[in-house]
Amino acid sequence: MPEDFVVTPWEVTGEVDYDKLVERFGTQRIDDALRERIRRHTGELHPLLNRGLFFSHRDMNWILDEFEKGNRFHLYTGRGPSSGIHIGHMVPWIFAKWLQDKFRARMWFQITDDEKYWFKDFEKLDDAKAIAYDNILDIIAVGFDPKLTEVFIDTEYIRHLYPLAVQVAKRITFSTAKAVFGFDESFNLGQIFYTAVQSVPCFLPSIDAGRNVPVLIPCGIDQDPHFRVTRDVAERLGYYKPAGIYSKLMPGLLGLQSKMSASRPETGIFATDTEKAMRKKVSNAFTGGRATVEEQRKLGANPAVCSVFAYYAYLFAPDDADLAEIERTCRSGERLCGDCKSELADRVAAFLKVHQERREKARDRLDEFLLSD
Ligand code: TYM
Repeated sequence: MPEDFVVTPWEVTGEVDYDKLVERFGTQRIDDALRERIRRHTGELHPLLNRGLFFSHRDMNWILDEFEKGNRFHLYTGRGPSSGIHIGHMVPWIFAKWLQDKFRARMWFQITDDEKYWFKDFEKLDDAKAIAYDNILDIIAVGFDPKLTEVFIDTEYIRHLYPLAVQVAKRITFSTAKAVFGFDESFNLGQIFYTAVQSVPCFLPSIDAGRNVPVLIPCGIDQDPHFRVTRDVAERLGYYKPAGIYSKLMPGLLGLQSKMSASRPETGIFATDTEKAMRKKVSNAFTGGRATVEEQRKLGANPAVCSVFAYYAYLFAPDDADLAEIERTCRSGERLCGDCKSELADRVAAFLKVHQERREKARDRLDEFLLSD
């Protein structure tokens, strides 16, 4: 029987059932006890965590055990530079920045130009690298602390990465790679090797510190298959298994099953969108509204199927009382979709304005963040 949905690091299709996904991947749900334990250290919970959008983990309790013993963890996340950044990519980064601030954690940020060259139809490796440099501006603009953050592009830091990649690669068989990622004979050798490269930053902090350092990976759940493989080899190499904290995938604007895709700009909001383009996309978004205003006033609308409501919930209504009021007025019919969309567009415009200003300033700040061989 065909799968009802597919989530791999390179493909997300169908309507994702996150309960089933957690079972398939073998990750844990984040429960109230874990949220409370995190809150004890952070004083408050980030809305993405409080709302269950960061919903799953591996070994987060162990990360906190170690932290409580004084063994501080490092953070690791990344970006595959295939195109401009959309707002979904920023979800794990905004959360990672929050973790960095709250735990004063060092962050290792990998940019995988090799991956995107191997997996995408880039004619030239330099095309992926050019996008990598453009994406770095967005990463810096998210606000990571330059004193605590190292950013590197694989092909420009490979002398540091390669010895570890070699050791990881030796311990992953082709049959494991096929089983985890679904490769067949048509895949190129780079694609098959790549997961070894994404494993490396799980161990770099330990090499850097000269002792074992716990690593926590905040990212979208689509990246977990890589780290399942990494965790299998970690102890054989003498390192801790990396831990992970995973978000759901923020939907596109065209419905909760829709994806944001650079090849279809109308599907999402991009970091470099003009205000006009962004407003047009938001005004065309899929909502849970009724066919007519009269019906909506009478019966109310359905936020549970609405992309616009999802955007508020993920990033644009961080205040819980505000989000609750949006939901209440939506369900009651007091709020109409047109007004609700323009309110969202105003909030997104304010966000993009700040982001784009920081992005421009980031052009002069690359040296504060970038590692190279
Ligand atoms: P990439 O570039 O596909 O995605 C970058 C990060 O964004 C997350 N993501 C999303 N999160 C929420 N909602 C969405 N709609 C959404 N779309 C993408 C991804 O899960 C990821 O966290 N191979 C990786 C690059 C990489 C990496 C890593 C990522 C290298 N090392 C370590 C995470 C952690 C990639 O191509 O990510």
